[in-house]
Amino acid sequence: MKELIEKINKLKQEKNAVILAHCYQNAEIDEVADFVGDSLYLSQMAAKTNASMILFAGVYFMAQTAKILCPDKKVLLPNKMAGCEMADMINLQQLREFKHKYPNIPVVCYINSTAEVKSECDICCTSSNAINIVDSLKAGKVLFLPDKNLGRWVETHLNGTQVITYDGYCPIHHNITVEDVLKTKKENPGVKLLAHPECKEEISSLADFVGSTTGIMNFVKNSPEKKFIIATEKGVVDRLKRDYPQKDFVIIKDNLICESMKLNTLEDIYHSLNNETYEIKVDKDISQKALKCIERMLDVSKTGAAK
Ligand code: 13P
Ligand code: SF4
Repeated sequence: MKELIEKINKLKQEKNAVILAHCYQNAEIDEVADFVGDSLYLSQMAAKTNASMILFAGVYFMAQTAKILCPDKKVLLPNKMAGCEMADMINLQQLREFKHKYPNIPVVCYINSTAEVKSECDICCTSSNAINIVDSLKAGKVLFLPDKNLGRWVETHLNGTQVITYDGYCPIHHNITVEDVLKTKKENPGVKLLAHPECKEEISSLADFVGSTTGIMNFVKNSPEKKFIIATEKGVVDRLKRDYPQKDFVIIKDNLICESMKLNTLEDIYHSLNNETYEIKVDKDISQKALKCIERMLDVSKTGAAK
């Protein structure tokens, strides 16, 4: 593995490439990554990198977002099969039908969506800024897609804004049941439950803290507690165990693994950089429209207000 890491680092230098890795990736990928984090952080890093090439160790919509933000750079996804089941739950046709059913309402799309979908939405969000983004619109009603769970959670944090959700969800987080929570809480009395807002509303309402991948990691970092129950993808728990060996982490159920995220391996990253595959391309017109939706989000994340 050490040899492979050295070969990747050498290629990175030769090609002036930067590697962005999501926290759900296999943890050894952090050894070659320049930036590791949640969806918001990685899109911010993509937007400001000076590198000529971006390798996105994540899933397709993430690499596509990087390409939209940096149309003149080469953007690579190491494994072309790495998609997001939630992003695939809504296509352009379904978005148009949803908008037709609820006309003249601002449309917020989760970053876990395709470029085509983003191109016909007003503003994008991630799990770490979703409440601020919806709030910044100062609208009585918003359409929110594809994640109904994130949309519901946002609504509970806003004063009266009605969030009309599309029927999409992340199969990994959506699978967590109240029984899983109650059983794990019973086995670990008094231990705080930290959950991702892609979980169902009834899970979020039982949690002591709800936040994005980075939010959960920061909560652990800043908490004096020594043990936590974690309700999100296993990659987060792997990194928490690695970074806080003196603390204890209980994952709420065993199979919380996004198989797509785990497709990327160090070997794939080496081949991807070496052969410059799989290059992400986005239609120019779609890209320009989707860019507005993403840039509007990045602006709000900087200033707190939508323009
Ligand atoms: P965050 O990176 O915003 O926590 O989202 C989690 C996720 O499911 C990414 O696909
Ligand atoms: Fe998509 Fe869920 Fe996997 Fe994230 S964890 S990439 S939302 S399927």
